[in-house]
Amino acid sequence: MRTVAVLPGSFDPVTLGHLDVIARAVKIFDEVHVVVVHNPGKSALLPIAQRVTLIEQALAQAGLDGVVVAQWSVGLLVDYCTEVGATVLVKGLRSNQDVAYETPMALVNRNLAGVETVFMLPEPGHAYVSSSLVRQVAALGGDVRPYVPHVVAEYLATHGS
Ligand code: PNS
Repeated sequence: MRTVAVLPGSFDPVTLGHLDVIARAVKIFDEVHVVVVHNPGKSALLPIAQRVTLIEQALAQAGLDGVVVAQWSVGLLVDYCTEVGATVLVKGLRSNQDVAYETPMALVNRNLAGVETVFMLPEPGHAYVSSSLVRQVAALGGDVRPYVPHVVAEYLATHGS
């Protein structure tokens, strides 16, 4: 059976930690969709379309072919899963805080549509990296290159933050 997996998130912006988890998911699942979701609980730095473009460019630079990158702004995430035939959600776990944050979402998504969530551990070196940390460092003029793909660092340097 062909297994389609969806890797959702705000990706504001995509980090090396995200890329690490995407690369691991690609090795396991037949088809991987990285889906940029509008999270009303967070105020965004980058427009959704820009986040999609940066992910596409970062995947190309990393040689990760065949990953579908999409955006989903209306409706439940599981509706996207149903639309593309995905049965699995993939999330990266960095800490106990992530476990507490992700567990209710995983259970709700399973109750809503039977979509299971698979948790993956990133390389420990990426375990402390988050998009919010990157936004903060960038806003204060710090060097974000250790935390994000090259295209993202370039974008933030050129477009300000
Ligand atoms: O990167 P984030 O912001 O932590 O990702 C959270 C996200 C966008 C994956 C989550 O908020 C989400 O799934 N939103 C879609 C709306 C939805 O389906 N909600 C009900 C189940 S959680």
